[in-house]
Amino acid sequence: MTNPNARILIADDQADVLEALRLLLKPEGFTVEAVRAPAAALKAAESRDFDLALIDLNYARDTTSGTEGLDLLAKLQAADATLPVVVMTAWASVEIAVEAMRRGAKDFVTKPWDNPRLLAIVRNQLELARAVRAYRRLAEENQILRGGKSGPKLIAESAAMRPVLDIIARVGPSDANVLITGENGTGKGLVAQALHAISARADQPFISVNMGGLPEGVFESELFGHVRGAFTDAKADRAGRFELADGGTLFLDEIGNIPHSQQAKLLRTLETGEFERVGSSKTHRANVRLVSATNADIAAEVTGGRFRQDLLFRLNTIQLHLPPLRERREDIDLLAQHFLRQHAERYRKAVTGFDPGAVETLKSYPWPGNVRELDHSIERGVLMCAGRVIRDTDLGLKAGAASPSLEDMSLEEVEAFFIKKVLARSDGNARAAAEALGLSRSAFYRRLEKYGL
Ligand SMILES: Nc1ncnc2c1ncn2[C@@H]1O[C@H](COP(=O)(O)OP(=O)(O)OP(=O)(O)O)[C@@H](O)[C@H]1O
Ligand SMILES: [Mg+2]
Repeated sequence: MTNPNARILIADDQADVLEALRLLLKPEGFTVEAVRAPAAALKAAESRDFDLALIDLNYARDTTSGTEGLDLLAKLQAADATLPVVVMTAWASVEIAVEAMRRGAKDFVTKPWDNPRLLAIVRNQLELARAVRAYRRLAEENQILRGGKSGPKLIAESAAMRPVLDIIARVGPSDANVLITGENGTGKGLVAQALHAISARADQPFISVNMGGLPEGVFESELFGHVRGAFTDAKADRAGRFELADGGTLFLDEIGNIPHSQQAKLLRTLETGEFERVGSSKTHRANVRLVSATNADIAAEVTGGRFRQDLLFRLNTIQLHLPPLRERREDIDLLAQHFLRQHAERYRKAVTGFDPGAVETLKSYPWPGNVRELDHSIERGVLMCAGRVIRDTDLGLKAGAASPSLEDMSLEEVEAFFIKKVLARSDGNARAAAEALGLSRSAFYRRLEKYGL
């Protein structure tokens, strides 16, 4: 829920714009402070706490630079790194908004704005910021972000990871079953540990079973245990993973690989907490919190009849999707430094950074193997590195695989990018999009045609 008492700082050099925004935001219960000069905005942000800043980027050009808005953005960020900043701009100067987003603005509003849309953006940003703060608090208590003995160090500063952090913060402490989905190497195992680390079960065992690595024959005895003599090799009684996880968290990895023949049995145990060791009829109970993960399209497995729908329902009370690394490039830098420190220490090498070529490659490489691939390539970099900095070639990544970044886009490409974004925001409604962009319908359609949208 958005905090209705949220404090919003608005900055615009036009008094009528400030008044209109004040009239829009106040009835929503927000506390609004409105200032005209960038310097006044900065002073306000330095002396008082705000939950969001809404700033104009197009200050009257009494200087030739036209960058007062961007300067203000940078200064606000320096004053309070956690303050979400939304920028306002006329459609005619929308490239500045692109630049502002690239420099960390959270969203943009084009003038003249649409009231419900502006409110939606404000509420959305307040909600995201609240989630991040809630997670930080939890994380501090539980050392997730800092690492430490109780939980793994989870690096996630990007916008794409915010909903993930939010879900972790909300459901981590509960006993809800969580299904983590995502491509190989996106951090599913790490997130499973994080969920455990912030749960009430943190002091109890975290037991992980990889369903992909279990031959069908040993599946049952691995999960539920066996008694002596149950089969030829069963020389003694042995507890299964369910029993070992009693009171704690059981992490079922690669659930797409659970043999169909075993799914009904597993479902029963998940529903009742009861199971029998192989070779015995004595019923045991275990109280486990279940976290599972898959990189398969599990819905397709269900449709194809390979995975029981009732089992999936049981597993995915909460579903948590980890975006691929290419969709959270802002995190690459921090992750790279994290892995660099780790491997430099492990291999006792005095490697302290990356040369510009390596930085460029890290930024633009598509990372099909996600965070794990980044980890491995930096490990290689540390090992191959002759001096104190890792060079491009030390990373061992294929050149030419890079995808274009905003920096390399032409103005036309940027315009096409923006039109796409606005279209998506208007749910494909061309009229609403044209209006939001301040374009006549014919001008808008010409552009759609021009860019093949
Ligand atoms: N956000 C992150 N911060 C720090 N380290 C991370 C992060 N995400 C992943 N890692 C590291 O990257 C490696 C791969 O992560 P992990 O094994 O959790 O991925 P996975 O999604 O389980 O992969 P797979 O599908 O192949 O099992 C691990 O060493 C993990 O510690
Ligand atoms: Mg894994």
